[in-house]
Amino acid sequence: MVESLVERVAADLVRSKYAIALTGAGISTESGIPDFRGPNGIWTKNPEAERAAYQTYDKFLRDPKEYWQAVSGGVSFYHDLRQAEPNPGHCAMAEMEKLGILKCVITQNIDGLHRKAGSRRVLEYHGAVNRLRCPSCSSRFEFEEYEMDGADEPLLPLCKKCQTPIKLDVVHFNEPIPSDVARQSLEETWKCDVMLICGTSAVVYPFAQLPRIARQRKVEQEQKAKSGLYFVKEVAAATIVEVNAEPTPLTQEGISDYIIQGKTGDILPQIVAQVKRFSR
Ligand code: APR
Repeated sequence: MVESLVERVAADLVRSKYAIALTGAGISTESGIPDFRGPNGIWTKNPEAERAAYQTYDKFLRDPKEYWQAVSGGVSFYHDLRQAEPNPGHCAMAEMEKLGILKCVITQNIDGLHRKAGSRRVLEYHGAVNRLRCPSCSSRFEFEEYEMDGADEPLLPLCKKCQTPIKLDVVHFNEPIPSDVARQSLEETWKCDVMLICGTSAVVYPFAQLPRIARQRKVEQEQKAKSGLYFVKEVAAATIVEVNAEPTPLTQEGISDYIIQGKTGDILPQIVAQVKRFSR
């Protein structure tokens, strides 16, 4: 079953003119980073941690020093993320970009693993843990530009441009998506004719709106009737395919055309191999 679906999606990708991928925490679990809502997810195991995560942005707005105490140093979730390495799923994505098939990856993940794997066109919809961002002038800085580890006085990094207290370039719950990333992600969603959705439960908005926007898009296609006459018919503009360990609302609502159920680290390299066979 999976084999025939791998062939089907490889054919869709080879035929595509503008294929993009959307990814979530599920593509990074095989790098040792737990997801959030899967069977061993962070929120699944500790609902209190999810409730606390909803306070993080307010904490920054209320007291940036307290925010930095919570998110910095070896004990924080963010510190561990920086040590992780890409897995075969990320590498397959980077290879599909090198083959000229994949035009962009829009990821919810903040671990930076798509870039580490070699993907160059990556939109980090929820930001990235190895960067800092100024909420006032939107300037971004690499983590290394600031002395963050081992600082003795409480951390309060200021923007190098406008001296405002800055935060991780991570989009916390209740925090707006940076407008540049939001706009670019919409543009990609409007352009794509294949959308590969990997390792996400697709329940967090506004990211989860992107597949629904792609599903609503229609294009006119000339078709030939049995009589030989040609006519124009409206058809779906994008083929939407999920690669996920379990069905999601996108599956149940018919937003995706089909799901290849399994691990991204297994399935995505099979898709790349099949794309190469079809491209010979
Ligand atoms: N291969 C394929 N799918 C996997 C794998 C894997 N190796 N491991 C887990 N999954 C699936 C899970 O079954 C689940 O359906 O990936 C999905 C991950 O869903 P979530 O844990 O909800 O992660 P995500 O969709 O990225 O969450 C979105 O929620 O907490 C916020 O900001 C956080 O960006 C995150 C957002």
